[in-house]
Amino acid sequence: MKKVFAIILSISMIMGLAACAKRAEVPSKRDVQKEVEKEYDMDFDLESKDIADDGSEAEWVFISDDGSLQVTVSWSAKDPDEFEFDEEELAVLPGDNPAAPPVSYDSDAIVIGVSMPTKDLQRWNQDGDYIENALEAAGYEVDLQYAANDVVNQLEQVESMIDSGCDVLVIAAIEGSSLGEALDMAKANGIPVIAYDRLLWNTDAVSYYVTFDQYMTGQLQAQYIEKALDLSSGAGPFNIEITTGDPGDNNAMFYYEGAMDVLNPYIENGQLVVVSGQVDFDEVATANWSTENSQIRAEQIIELCYSDGTQIDAWLCSNDSTALGVENALAADYLGSYPIITGQDCDIANMKNILVGKQDMSVFKDTRILAAQAVTMVDQICSGQTVDVNDTSTYNNGTINVPAFLCEPCVVDVNNYIEILIDSGYYTEADLG
Ligand code: BGC
Repeated sequence: MKKVFAIILSISMIMGLAACAKRAEVPSKRDVQKEVEKEYDMDFDLESKDIADDGSEAEWVFISDDGSLQVTVSWSAKDPDEFEFDEEELAVLPGDNPAAPPVSYDSDAIVIGVSMPTKDLQRWNQDGDYIENALEAAGYEVDLQYAANDVVNQLEQVESMIDSGCDVLVIAAIEGSSLGEALDMAKANGIPVIAYDRLLWNTDAVSYYVTFDQYMTGQLQAQYIEKALDLSSGAGPFNIEITTGDPGDNNAMFYYEGAMDVLNPYIENGQLVVVSGQVDFDEVATANWSTENSQIRAEQIIELCYSDGTQIDAWLCSNDSTALGVENALAADYLGSYPIITGQDCDIANMKNILVGKQDMSVFKDTRILAAQAVTMVDQICSGQTVDVNDTSTYNNGTINVPAFLCEPCVVDVNNYIEILIDSGYYTEADLG
């Protein structure tokens, strides 16, 4: 028996869709399934789905858990508030359950795909662990994958998460503008995307951005140097060098700009002298934020400009992995007294260096806070609530202003690390011993 009828989306679904109105137009499988289960008062599993590439039409086929009913749901962007249900009774042979899919599929599980750039740096391992644990504690299923800093790898991983039916994606991109195809696919499948820590560029398929205030991070680093050298009182001239991050990572530019807005006036009036002459972003960038690349460049600068014992007073480093490279180079080749060195992330190796005076500060971006905020976003999206954001204008990704939640970074140095890192349980004394 076949019958066809249409229903109007429930209030909660409309709210849910409104929350991501611009980008997640195709209803999610989970929402459609809920409607089917409500309508027929029985449990269903998804048999197949077919969504037009441009997201204008979609069709889902569900089969009831007892195998007696197949419901095909059609949806069109022309009438986004309506579903058309086409139901068909199935002949059930004893012992035969056509609803049992080849791979077991838990109809209640909401799956969150989490894509992290690399396991090479301490922070992404922590981010991944915190997000996974918090999402699982909240009842979600998690598909966490690391992409070994390989853009193609990350693209394929995200596509496979979408293929296997994830409901929401959380992505820390290796290169913010290289995931276009996967993001289009997410959009066509009605999957909301949260950009995690790093912005996703040139796409309207990103729903939200959760990050630490990047510009402020750069400012905190430069202000630390400003204070340590007493620049605001006119002291100087001092020699300084600059090392920032990966040119493909949009964050690197924010850190650089935040720092340079503080340092530039002192460079212009001669209180700070960049002896190498390397100031432009492209000259001071470090591919992959790699310690090795940073060390190679620092060694060259030391050899060219400081091998006669000329003093380096400060070395602005945008993060800890690059700071480590500079510290290695100084240990090997430098004759003058030790400069002020900045960093970011409070990695264990760098905290150890801070404790023995080989680095002065690091900006702490508590990954527990960032991960928790990402999980709150996921929860709010999945329950159709308004998603908390505190910045809707700064992060234009070339296509849209991405609504963002910015967490606040803070400075850690030898004077406050116990309170901020140890007392808060981020590290134990033994970790840094
Ligand atoms: C992050 C930093 C990190 C760097 C290298 C940036 O995008 O914001 O915290 O140090 O990547 O992984």
